[in-house]
Amino acid sequence: MITQNTIQQILSRIDIVEIVGSFVKLKKRGTNYIGLCPFHNEKSPSFTVSASKEIYKCFGCGRSGNSIGFLMEAEKYSYAEALRWLAAKYNVEIEETETSPEYKQQQQVAESLYIINNFAQKFFSNALLNTDEGQDIALSYLKERGFREETIKKFQLGFNPEARDSFTKAALAAQYSQEYLQKSGSVNVREGNAYDNYRGRIIFPIHNQSGKVLGFGARIIKSNDKAPKYINTPENEIYVKSKLLYGSYFARQAIDKADECLLVEGYTDVVSLHQAGIENVVASGGTSLTPDQLRLIKKYTNNLTIIYDGDNAGIKAALRGLDLALEESLNVKLVLIPDKEDPDSYVNKVGATAFADFIANNKRDVILFQLDIALKDAGSDSNKKSIIVNQIAETIAKINKAEDFTKQQDYIKKCSEILKIEESGLHVLVNKFIREKITKAENQQIRDDHFAAENAAANATDTIDSEVLGLFNKDEMHERAMVRSLLEFGTKNWDDEQKVATYIFKEIELNQLDELIDNKELVKILHTYKAWCNEGIEPTAKNFLYHDNLQMSSLVVSIMDFNYEISPKWKEHFEGHLPTREDLFKEEVFSTLNYLKLKKIKRLIDENQRDLEKSTVSEEQMIFIQTHQHLKQMEIELTKILGTVIFK
Ligand code: CTP
Ligand code: MN
Repeated sequence: MITQNTIQQILSRIDIVEIVGSFVKLKKRGTNYIGLCPFHNEKSPSFTVSASKEIYKCFGCGRSGNSIGFLMEAEKYSYAEALRWLAAKYNVEIEETETSPEYKQQQQVAESLYIINNFAQKFFSNALLNTDEGQDIALSYLKERGFREETIKKFQLGFNPEARDSFTKAALAAQYSQEYLQKSGSVNVREGNAYDNYRGRIIFPIHNQSGKVLGFGARIIKSNDKAPKYINTPENEIYVKSKLLYGSYFARQAIDKADECLLVEGYTDVVSLHQAGIENVVASGGTSLTPDQLRLIKKYTNNLTIIYDGDNAGIKAALRGLDLALEESLNVKLVLIPDKEDPDSYVNKVGATAFADFIANNKRDVILFQLDIALKDAGSDSNKKSIIVNQIAETIAKINKAEDFTKQQDYIKKCSEILKIEESGLHVLVNKFIREKITKAENQQIRDDHFAAENAAANATDTIDSEVLGLFNKDEMHERAMVRSLLEFGTKNWDDEQKVATYIFKEIELNQLDELIDNKELVKILHTYKAWCNEGIEPTAKNFLYHDNLQMSSLVVSIMDFNYEISPKWKEHFEGHLPTREDLFKEEVFSTLNYLKLKKIKRLIDENQRDLEKSTVSEEQMIFIQTHQHLKQMEIELTKILGTVIFK
């Protein structure tokens, strides 16, 4: 973990205009900066950065956040990665808290494996490009297949010489430990003798998202019945097959741009398509997609197109697990390459343009495709058919995001057509599965509730939506306004004796917060504020903005507003005396507090009213009536105060 001290140092140097400015061209307008939003397509700028508040907001797509949030969104960094990026930019040395010995050990192993892989990759590249053996046997083979030298260099392809241990010898001579070499997979040990695992093979390095080598795929050159076509790195601390996609490092930007990810089977497919200028492509290594791989894709795009050869026996297996893609609202399409070709051979045969056209014109819906295959398999067996109907209903029920509703209806329609069954029948079945799922989820919810707090941070993006919804709730508007006043003006003097914050906390009892404020996240902010005051931490808006609880920081972002730009004409009109929120902060604090109180009184009146209606004892009724009058009086007074104070 990065220490609090380091985080503070980073935060003290952060300049949001500079950070955002390295990705977006910004122009100064008034006190803010504006530019074209990097998160959605627009022609006129609605992306606004406030230097003083250190937040950005796009008035087009609604995205907002702080510097760290920006990096997380724009570069798909994790929180820690964003901090590291900033530390590097502002020359802050990173200090880390003690981690568990096991974690440290694992980190050390991982680090060693990266170093060995880096050495190995260079060794293999050199053997391919600069030795006679490599040129004669491997480079000539690659060139014959149509790979150009620049492509070979870009993907850092290599060759492991035929000799039993040329790599092993070089690595041991360079002082790498045999144990780690073996772990890395490039070296095998049999009866105490170490030798090259990939000897005589073409080497495809497999990179992680930042370009570091995780492992290798090693292809045999002359096909041989006894030896496997590929030897892959065994699973170790850094090579976890289910979590990686070959080519993702080279495809990232193109996927972003095309808003589509092409998925092929093999290493050679990726390299060939890339060479043909189709760069938004990754490979799964022939197996079905894992949840981790789907998530990786989902980070960059919602559109996945799987490209397979038409008569591939593995196709059914490859499409397994795609139900998950539906739940994640990923649009999955399938393109089958004809004539016993694979993407690599097909692009070499027809050329880049024809290939791209073919992909664009032959996309099939993957769910309908699967239904087709299943129906063909079932033939006229009505038992099998009813199983299929159930399965497809369950699959369709997994589409659960509100925005995918039309998609769901569309599937019901199309599937019932293909199945030749009543649309309404399929409807009923789908709904049954949805209900089952909800019941299951509710039961799970009860079990999960006490873990919710820990997971809240991870779900920060989900909360933003509910925040937006919250804006339509008038009560919540007042709650937010109060917390905003506290964050913005808390450290100002209320009078000679106390700060604004002290005044606010005197007016609202901390232990009554739950009654006064419905949004529990806002209550959390108030508690944190108070705790920070007690601990001597400055409760500035900025410290909240960069709170490592992302849910809290994104809520703070959403309640802070931008300074309204006042036109020069107006300023003239008021002869420079147009009051700002800053000037009127006392009024603001006073009125936001009283709105909350008013809300509470209204609620008490309602409760009292209900009690009165329920009561059958006349003495009791008397008390309720008196209470009602008393509360009404308070309400009237408060309303009067609010009416006179706000626009003084
Ligand atoms: N694969 C593997 N081990 C094997 C065979 C295949 O790991 N024994 C994986 C590799 O990732 C390979 C992919 O499955 O890239 C697809 O296999 P295949 O189509 O047989 O190989 P290609 O990559 O197309 O290689 P080539 O074009 O040279 O035949
Ligand atoms: Mn191939």
